[in-house]
Amino acid sequence: MPKVTFVHPDGCRETVEGDSGVSIMQLATSKRIGGIIGECGGAAMCTTCHVFVDPAHVESTGNPNEIEDEMLEVTATERQTTSRLGCQIVLTDQMDGLVLHLPETQ
Ligand code: FES
Repeated sequence: MPKVTFVHPDGCRETVEGDSGVSIMQLATSKRIGGIIGECGGAAMCTTCHVFVDPAHVESTGNPNEIEDEMLEVTATERQTTSRLGCQIVLTDQMDGLVLHLPETQ
């Protein structure tokens, strides 16, 4: 099971394990990671699953598609170059060790 570490704005880190095939949003909400809401249920419509992918892991998580890219323009916390919607990142075994930073607000 791949491990994912969520880093809160205050620097607090939470590491959880998840099954391949679930989204980062699903993983975070099922493990009660504060700061990931997932209000639209993963439809890329709410941006309450915004995360900043650690630069070392950008390659394994890929790039946003067109719809996700548009939604990243309206996030509560300003978009950064490594911003993604957690509901659009599907966990794979190759992502083991993934580090995601959480924004101040969703
Ligand atoms: Fe709504 Fe990701 S859960 S955009």
